[in-house]
Amino acid sequence: MTRRIDTAAARDVLIANDRGGYTVPTSRLYPFQWNWDSAFVAMGWATFDEERAWRELERLVEGQWADGMVPHIVFHAPSDDYFPGPDVWGTHHSPPTSGISQPPVLASAVKFVFDHAKGADAAKRAEGLYHAALASHRWWAIARDPEGTGLVAILHPWESGMDNSPAWDEAFARVPAEPRTEIRRRDTAHVGAAMRPHDDDYRRYIHLVDIFREAGWDASALWEKAPFKVADLAINAILQRAEQDLAHLAERFGSEAEKAEISARIEKRARALSALWSEERGLYQPLDLISGARIDVSTSAGFLPLFAGLPSADQARRMAAEIVRWRGKVAHGVPSTSPFDPRFEPKRYWRGPVWGVVNYMIAEGLAAYELTEEADAIRADTRGLISSQGFAEYFDPTTGEGLGGGSFSWTAAIALLLSR
Ligand code: DGY
Repeated sequence: MTRRIDTAAARDVLIANDRGGYTVPTSRLYPFQWNWDSAFVAMGWATFDEERAWRELERLVEGQWADGMVPHIVFHAPSDDYFPGPDVWGTHHSPPTSGISQPPVLASAVKFVFDHAKGADAAKRAEGLYHAALASHRWWAIARDPEGTGLVAILHPWESGMDNSPAWDEAFARVPAEPRTEIRRRDTAHVGAAMRPHDDDYRRYIHLVDIFREAGWDASALWEKAPFKVADLAINAILQRAEQDLAHLAERFGSEAEKAEISARIEKRARALSALWSEERGLYQPLDLISGARIDVSTSAGFLPLFAGLPSADQARRMAAEIVRWRGKVAHGVPSTSPFDPRFEPKRYWRGPVWGVVNYMIAEGLAAYELTEEADAIRADTRGLISSQGFAEYFDPTTGEGLGGGSFSWTAAIALLLSR
């Protein structure tokens, strides 16, 4: 029997995490506005409060930089609960922000909210956000693909949103664990250290922030100096889907030149991404742009090209079979790292746990290929995890236990999206 989600409780999580037009991922652990969290959260708000959904996205782009970057954190109000705060980033933006980005779900969220909107001002609000999303896609193409390969790069593991994925292990090991800024971790005061990245990871995370801050957050200087540069699948696949959603919005709000610009990026990125397919592994793999080598890893990000309609029908079926194989090895899917990989850790953040947002995107992708049974199985599993464990940040695929922060906004948003 499929368990039912308590949608009233899911709405209450968003309401409780509302800080005045923006939603914190969860109190204490993440006390500001996070970029991709907010995009999913806006879709959740759209299921019951259209005004609030628009506000979420508008508050996010208050942090947008003049060059188009939408930062991964907007520090709307001070808090001592999180490290690294605005002083460490030193970006001098108002409102204060971090200096890197995150998976660009924004255009997809704008399209979703607009598609469900009934308000008289919906077109005006969507139009403003269309221009913000367009500027952010241009930023990705210019700042993070200056050589014009079609694939954009992350310069920090935090940009992938999948901070400690084994996908970064080799490339990240080249980053010196020598920060100049004193590390004052706050995350492990809120959740158990066994569920979080290691101290050594933090030394490297902050070393990168130190390099970028000292380069004055200039995009071309960052590209020049970054010792970590990876063409990640989550970023590229989510951006590709976002470009498609932006193209839909451009039909209504864009100029002919903008439509042509967007479709040129879509075509170029599709060609570049197709080279990252691994027939042997049954998914896509990221590219280390410093060594030039394909990273031989199997993570759930490798299935996200489904969400952008990139694979052929045969490749989509191959991915569906691989997902079924993973799910056969553990009790719940989709684990963030293959459970057949020796680096799989079922409780440690992005090294194994199941994440609702990733399941949502994979299931949407599978459904678009009419792999309905596989999509429904993932959705039912996700609903079951949430209804039995509550709105946890993520879940142990071997036991189903809810882990990380509790009362988590994006898990509540996914619960609302899966209950429609
Ligand atoms: C964190 O602090 O855990 C975040 O993922 C970085 O944005």
